[in-house]
Amino acid sequence: DASHELRTPLTVMRGETELALRRPRETDDYKIVLESNLEEIDRMTRIVDELLFLSRADMGEVKMEHLPVQLDLLIEDVHRQASLLGQERDIQVVLSATTSVVVLGDELRLRELFLNLLDNAVKYSRPSGTVDIALTIYQGQARVSVADHGIGIAQEDQPQIFDRFYRTDIARAHTKKGTGLGLAICTWIAESHRGQIEVQSQVGEGSTFTVMLPLVSPLA
Ligand SMILES: Nc1ncnc2c1ncn2[C@@H]1O[C@H](COP(=O)(O)OP(=O)(O)O)[C@@H](O)[C@H]1O
Ligand SMILES: [Mg+2]
Repeated sequence: DASHELRTPLTVMRGETELALRRPRETDDYKIVLESNLEEIDRMTRIVDELLFLSRADMGEVKMEHLPVQLDLLIEDVHRQASLLGQERDIQVVLSATTSVVVLGDELRLRELFLNLLDNAVKYSRPSGTVDIALTIYQGQARVSVADHGIGIAQEDQPQIFDRFYRTDIARAHTKKGTGLGLAICTWIAESHRGQIEVQSQVGEGSTFTVMLPLVSPLA
């Protein structure tokens, strides 16, 4: 939960800082402690930002646009951004299908939703893997799928990964980078557009996240 996630890094930083101050040390030793603290500070900043967003969302205080969004252009754009993200890990991000689609909603939030999914797909891929993004129309709705061939998610974990702070053991072992809040935010954005988000996955094989959005629908 939130108190645990925020207290743990504080306890770590306090311990390291106290220890460093206990007696005079070499410059390099201070540097190591400060670098480690900076990492924890960055992590906590992300958690606080994401938690504040979610609590504002809970209270109905997040403003949403109700404007036509040309989804294919948005997807092309996030694909470009994700390609750059992939380059750092030698992962190729492929836009395998696209079609002209307009949905009603908030362009910035939708961008955030798909970037979060692509960020996960890249992060939980193995080096030199590929990530695939596709936009199609399915059963009268816009369907965006983000597929990877990465670490995958066990069946019993799949319903829980959308919960706040839930990260699977294999994800934690794979990388420390993560807050476990991204998919909770994605769910909120999808549902605010009267849409849905789903996952299909197998451990060691990869994962596919699918977002369905109504083509024309007034927002709540
Ligand atoms: N593409 C993926 N491949 C494997 N596991 C994933 C993927 N996307 C999400 N997950 C699992 O769902 C959890 C929650 O995702 P998210 O909220 O984005 O957290 P984070 O990215 O901070 O780990 C992740 O920690 C991971 O266990
Ligand atoms: Mg994430």
